[in-house]
Amino acid sequence: MDSHTVLFGVIGDPIRHSRSPVMLNRAFRETGVNGLYAAFHVKPERLGEAIAGLRAFGFRGLNVTIPHKIEVMAHLDEIHEGARAIGAVNTIVNEDGRLIGYNTDGIGYVRSLKEEAEPELAGKKILVLGAGGASRGILWALNSENPSAVWLANRTWDKARELAESFVETQASRILPIRWEELRDVCAEADIVVNTTSVGMSPNVSETPIDPSWLKPEAVASDLIYNPLTTAFLQQAKERGCRIHGGLGMFIYQGAYAFEYWTGLPAPARAMREEVLSSFTGK
Ligand code: ATR
Repeated sequence: MDSHTVLFGVIGDPIRHSRSPVMLNRAFRETGVNGLYAAFHVKPERLGEAIAGLRAFGFRGLNVTIPHKIEVMAHLDEIHEGARAIGAVNTIVNEDGRLIGYNTDGIGYVRSLKEEAEPELAGKKILVLGAGGASRGILWALNSENPSAVWLANRTWDKARELAESFVETQASRILPIRWEELRDVCAEADIVVNTTSVGMSPNVSETPIDPSWLKPEAVASDLIYNPLTTAFLQQAKERGCRIHGGLGMFIYQGAYAFEYWTGLPAPARAMREEVLSSFTGK
């Protein structure tokens, strides 16, 4: 670090669990960028002050996590089209004092799905489970890949219907809400099944959102959860012959896009993944 070091960080509440600092600092080391990335615990009532501080100190960029992704938008100068459609920002770029908000969660997920499990999404039939906070960005990014269908199922029907309807005006939407009771039949059709619900997350590691035996053996099973790295849903789908895709890739690639927006350099995704994995195993 010297007097040219460029500053970055992540804000959230809580924040001490975040793997973003180890991941992004590794990316800076790997590419020779003189940057420093730290985690800041910012309470909701101090969000405005935190963003003013970012401006004052001339940070080049910031990641934003729970619970600030929606409220932070009011403090920015410009919101990128994708983030506006999703209604949440997870990455801020400071362009000479102008703060621009992006959302790299959904596109990070799709890039990881394409690189790790299924390179071609056009024409595919995709089933998304869950209509919570994580689902929205993923639906938007998947819909942009020209799939032949995106079905959305949620335990609470009204949330699936409302979320699907909210896309009608923002994009040529192929998102169709389906009832939880229809899942078995729809699974038999789906090429890709994505779990965005919290079912199967540690400590409830034996739970699955649906019966994995409903999937076609040639389907891709994808899970946003990365703790555990392989959920029971993925493990059982794999035993059926399905290709599986875990949630760590989404985390890596949302950070890779942020790195690329800030630096203009290609992100060293392999090194970033290695760093995050070794932070889990404590090596
Ligand atoms: P996130 O921001 O991570 O998406 P969230 O907004 O709390 O988290 O959403 C959690 C999602 O998991 C919701 O879709 C929720 O379904 P409901 O809308 O019906 O609550 C889903 N979920 C949680 N527990 C579930 C369970 N046991 N079975 C099915 N879906 C579940």
